[in-house]
Amino acid sequence: MSGGTLPPGPAAGGRTRPVGLLAGRRVVVVGGASGIGRATVRAAAAAGAAVAVLDADVAGAAEAAAEVRSAGANACARGVDVTVEAEVAGALDAVAAELGGVDAVLHVAGIMGGQGLDVRDVPVELWTRVIAVNLTGPFLVAKHAARHLSPGDGVLVLVGSKAGVQTGSGSVPYGASKGGLHGLALTLARQLGPQGIRVHALCPGDIDTPLMRRSLDEARANGTDGGRVAAIEAALGRPEDVASVLVLLASPASAGLAGTVCTG
Ligand SMILES: NC(=O)c1ccc[n+]([C@@H]2O[C@H](COP(=O)([O-])OP(=O)(O)OC[C@H]3O[C@@H](n4cnc5c(N)ncnc54)[C@H](O)[C@@H]3O)[C@@H](O)[C@H]2O)c1
Repeated sequence: MSGGTLPPGPAAGGRTRPVGLLAGRRVVVVGGASGIGRATVRAAAAAGAAVAVLDADVAGAAEAAAEVRSAGANACARGVDVTVEAEVAGALDAVAAELGGVDAVLHVAGIMGGQGLDVRDVPVELWTRVIAVNLTGPFLVAKHAARHLSPGDGVLVLVGSKAGVQTGSGSVPYGASKGGLHGLALTLARQLGPQGIRVHALCPGDIDTPLMRRSLDEARANGTDGGRVAAIEAALGRPEDVASVLVLLASPASAGLAGTVCTG
C-alpha cells in the first residue's frame, strides 16, 4: 500500500474525526456573517477547525454558525460591535471559554463608504465612522485577542486591502483606514512575533461581496465613470479564494510566512 494522507474516518466512539489544515485548531472569525468572512467560516470548518463567528449582524453570525454545525463541525456565535471595547473583550472571553482556548483570530469585519466622493465633499462624520470600524476595530480585536492567543503557534490576521498598500481607493476614508490597518499589522507583528504570535495583514483585491456591490452602486451614484465601474465589476474575484488563504495563514503550515500577504 502506498503512503499518503489518511482518508477521513470515524474516531473512537463513532464520531467523525476532523482532518485538514486546521484540525484541532480553534478559530475566531470576526465579521463572519457575510462575504469574505462567511466564506472563511465555511472554509475553516471544512478544514477541521472549531469556529467562533463574531459579527455586528447577530442573526447572520448565528446563521453562519448553524450552517457549519449542520455540516458536523463545532461552531458558536456572538454579536459584537468591533468599535466598542467592552463588547470586543466580552465576546472574545466568551468564545475562548466556549472553545476551550483560541489558536487563531481572523479579523475580517469592515465597512466601505464615500466611494467616488471628492475629498472636498467627504463629511467628517463618514470619515470618523469608517476609521472607527476599519482601524479602531482591528486595534481592539488585536488588543483582546492577544490575551487569548496561544504563545508558540497563535495567529492573528487583519484583513486590509490592496487599496491601502498598492492601488489607493475610490473612497478617501476607506483607503486611509486600510493603510492604517497595514501599519497596525506590521507593528503588531514586530511586538507579538517574539512572543510566539504570528501576525499578518492580508490584502485582497476586488471581491464579489455585498460590500463590493454596494460600493460599485455608490461609485456610480457619485458620478464615477460607468465604463470603469463595469470593468471592475467584470473582474471581481471570489470570496472563497480569499477564505482559502485565510485558512492557510491560520494553520501551522504557514509558520514560515511573515508580514503582508496580497491576493488577487
Ligand atoms: N470585497 C472586496 O472587494 C474587498 C477587497 C479588499 C478588502 N476587503 C475587506 O474584506 C473585509 C470583508 O469585506 P466583505 O467584502 O466580505 O464585506 P461584507 O459587507 O460582505 O462583510 C463585512 C462584515 O463585517 C461586519 N461588520 C461591519 N461593521 C461591523 C462592526 N462594527 N462590528 C462587527 N462587525 C461588523 C458586517 O456585518 C459584515 O458581516 C472588509 O474588511 C473589507 O474592507 C474587501
